[in-house]
Amino acid sequence: MNAPLRLGIAGLGTVGIGVVKIVRLHAAMLAVRTGRDITITAVSARSRDKDRGVSLSAYAWEDDPVALAKRDDVDIYVELMGGTEGPAKASVEAAIAAGKDVVTANKAMLAIHGQSLAEAAEAAGVSLRYEAAVAGGIPVIKALSEGLAGNDITRIVGVMNGSCNYILTRMENAGLSYDEVFAEADALGYLEADPQLDVGGIDAAHKLAILSSIAFGTQVDFDGIELEGIERVSINDIRHADDMGFKIKLLGVAQRTGRGLEQRMMPCLVPASSPMGQLQGGTNMVAIEGDAVEQIVLRGPGAGEGPTASAVMGDVCDIARGTRLPVFGQPAAMLEHADRASSVLPAPYYLRMALADKPGALAKIATVLGDAGVSIDRMRQYEHSDSSAPVLIVTHKTTRADLDNAIGAMKSIDVLLSDPVVLRIEAV
Ligand code: NAP
Ligand code: HSE
Repeated sequence: MNAPLRLGIAGLGTVGIGVVKIVRLHAAMLAVRTGRDITITAVSARSRDKDRGVSLSAYAWEDDPVALAKRDDVDIYVELMGGTEGPAKASVEAAIAAGKDVVTANKAMLAIHGQSLAEAAEAAGVSLRYEAAVAGGIPVIKALSEGLAGNDITRIVGVMNGSCNYILTRMENAGLSYDEVFAEADALGYLEADPQLDVGGIDAAHKLAILSSIAFGTQVDFDGIELEGIERVSINDIRHADDMGFKIKLLGVAQRTGRGLEQRMMPCLVPASSPMGQLQGGTNMVAIEGDAVEQIVLRGPGAGEGPTASAVMGDVCDIARGTRLPVFGQPAAMLEHADRASSVLPAPYYLRMALADKPGALAKIATVLGDAGVSIDRMRQYEHSDSSAPVLIVTHKTTRADLDNAIGAMKSIDVLLSDPVVLRIEAV
């Protein structure tokens, strides 16, 4: 048996305590699987006195995560505090500088500082692993960087934020408004401390930025993501989309195009009968397409104590076994700057508009769309109230530019009572 592998864990919240529990519960099994005892020597959190449901008295305590990261009796620094800057980044940098391997679940930090941290880790010859940062318990980082390493990856598409999927499916199933379900999710503790990270699509975009880097050999480019959250998705859109055979999902898509790397995270329509359309609650799903494998689909819990700690422990076991990999699937120095491309590829779109209920209004809309080269696939008008007629249109594939031209022209013909809702329909 090799020398024990000693963990220093900073952050004893949902994920940190989950890791402590697995290390204890599965000590014998982990030792057999990795050939080493995996032990915890020291821990850190903000409050030393908090009751965390497990005894931590066997471990040394550090108030300062940076001090923990540098301890001589720590081999792997496990950062589970979160935050883009502050103690998370400072302590990870300190651990790398001290020659420690690092495991983190911190997608926000990696999406912003992934390149510099990867360069530092590779220069120091240490591992920086982060399976838990994307899609919780789903081993998507491993699938992409190891199992699919022989593929030219063409597209990644996925639902990567469980809270948003919970909100959208709860609205759909209970017929509740966004505001009602948001309040409910907040009260249940399903949302990040800053809920905007979830509902604004930022958390999911952090995850997409990390996956894109591995998939396309580019430096993590969070700012290059076209980003829109779910705050404007209405119960009407959920109902109408359902009527037309679609579900609304906060969908991340990354693909290489002739013009560069397209990355977007926004509410989209997907076929109701597709696996992505049927995804309920906090479950995540990521589809990866490659030239050789065609398509694989990974599905599982995107958050929570057990699933996220499971992913952290996968990384710890790899390090215990001596597995060494470049941080983003290839040496950080060889990752290219991504040329950013916006969504130029044609797609079908869903339009919802409130038209003035007067003769010829619908005909004028159809004419404007036709003049802009946008072809209508399906159209439905709902019972009108007062002077407003709700109309839904599903277009054939069109470019966003042609659609925007059509919408601009619609606004000048005086039949729209408000700006149309426009949602892309994604093939999944
Ligand atoms: P959490 O429950 O809020 O726990 C955070 C822990 O960090 C707490 O123990 C807190 O101490 C400690 N902490 C915060 N600031 C600190 C500081 N300045 N110094 C020392 N300790 C500090 O968070 P979590 O849900 O476990 O998430 C941890 C990380 O995992 C985050 O990066 C998150 O994005 C990521 N993640 C979480 C999930 C999930 O399902 N929860 C899933 C995937 C990834 P106190 O307890 O004393 O306040
Ligand atoms: N807020 C995140 C989610 C936690 O809902 O998916 C897991 O990263």
